[in-house]
Amino acid sequence: MAELATVQNIAQFVDSEVVLHGWLYNKTDKGRLKFLQIRDGTGIIQGVVFQKDVSTACFENAERLTQESALVVRGTVRQDDRAPGGHELAIHDIEIVQIAEEYPITPKEHGIEFLMENRHLWLRSSQQWAILRVRATVIRAIRDWLDSHGFLLLDAPILTPSSCEGTTTLFETEYFGEKAYLTQSGQLYNEATCAAFGKTYCFGPTFRAEKSKTRRHLIEFWMVEPEIAYATLDDIMAVEEQFVSYIIGRCLEERAEELKTLERDTASLEAIEPPFARISYNDAIAMLEQSDDPLPWGEDFGAPHETYVASQFSQPVFVHRYPAQCKAFYMEADANDPRLSLSVDLLAPEGYGEIIGGGQRTSSLELLEQSLREHNLPPEPFAWYLDLRRYGSVPHAGFGLGVERTVTWICGIHHIRETIAFPRTLGRIYP
Ligand code: 4AD
Ligand code: MG
Repeated sequence: MAELATVQNIAQFVDSEVVLHGWLYNKTDKGRLKFLQIRDGTGIIQGVVFQKDVSTACFENAERLTQESALVVRGTVRQDDRAPGGHELAIHDIEIVQIAEEYPITPKEHGIEFLMENRHLWLRSSQQWAILRVRATVIRAIRDWLDSHGFLLLDAPILTPSSCEGTTTLFETEYFGEKAYLTQSGQLYNEATCAAFGKTYCFGPTFRAEKSKTRRHLIEFWMVEPEIAYATLDDIMAVEEQFVSYIIGRCLEERAEELKTLERDTASLEAIEPPFARISYNDAIAMLEQSDDPLPWGEDFGAPHETYVASQFSQPVFVHRYPAQCKAFYMEADANDPRLSLSVDLLAPEGYGEIIGGGQRTSSLELLEQSLREHNLPPEPFAWYLDLRRYGSVPHAGFGLGVERTVTWICGIHHIRETIAFPRTLGRIYP
């Protein structure tokens, strides 16, 4: 009896007969010899159909197969160092499950609009397959690291009564006659859970109605947000560099083949190791004086500024103490210069920009109330949040890492839209 195998575990079946469930990825016809590229979800293997070795029915089936037809094949696994993946399948039998209609995504080049319109099918292409497998590993590494370092997972709500990251990117909806918003960040809730549990994190989708169309922005993206009671700005930088280095290490270990498919030069990832450089916003502004895009003090970085600053370092770099005016309302002020906030962003190398934003939170009730007023935020929806400063308020800090930005960097790809199965981008909600 032939065993059911997958491409991923095919090495354990060398010289034996297996059954594979899959789809036809591509076909090369050499008359009496047909090469079928078969994908089964776990990988792609080359199957060989030789007319003299198979029944007439089997050979006719091989002939009829169109791209993406569903098939069950039986054959003998051969080790072959020339074959991609190192194995080949000598096919004996083909059962056709469905003959696919003419498939829209052919091996030729397609425009991005067309591919986005066909995202539900585009997922089957080997590049997309590789990226999304890296994503799954990034997510697993995130959970493993936090779960084994004393963080408790406590997810924050998606429907919220208030804004966390400014009112300009809020998605508004209605909640039984009241206004509600899709969450921009679970941070405010994390501040409550860390006071109850010490070290916590939330991990889920977040939503920003970003009006700008860039290769770094999604409308819906996943963010992991750890928060630590009694932690300071320096403490979270130390956590971030360990955390990010671990995620990179896991991808290099578990996704070498996918990174090869993506033609990712992994040398720069292999070099990543804590500690990362730490520079202040003021240092970064001075650095930008030498660039083509100097920035007036007090303004937030745009993509070119992040790229320039990061290009001065081979590893990710921390930029800390941004002016309070370019950060959210909850940032603790710097005791040495109240114009500055105890905020920190982590910038990835190679032009991938900010992958983490975070900082130390305001712990004083009076300062927080004042900051809400200065940001024109109504106090009522924040009443519970202000309570956290009334009952056992302590220094605390945390951060948010964007999953898709991180995956874009690790995969070395151009655009963030390929790092999530069904991207929500400006003006597109289909498929
Ligand atoms: O810097 P941000 O806005 O920080 C926060 O939301 C904090 N409340 C997090 C915290 O301290 N708990 O966002 C954090 C990260 C960014 O560094 C980036 O990686 C990602 O989230 N991000 C986006 N990713 C894709 N598309 C967007 N529109 C993003 N906006 C932010
Ligand atoms: Mg940010």
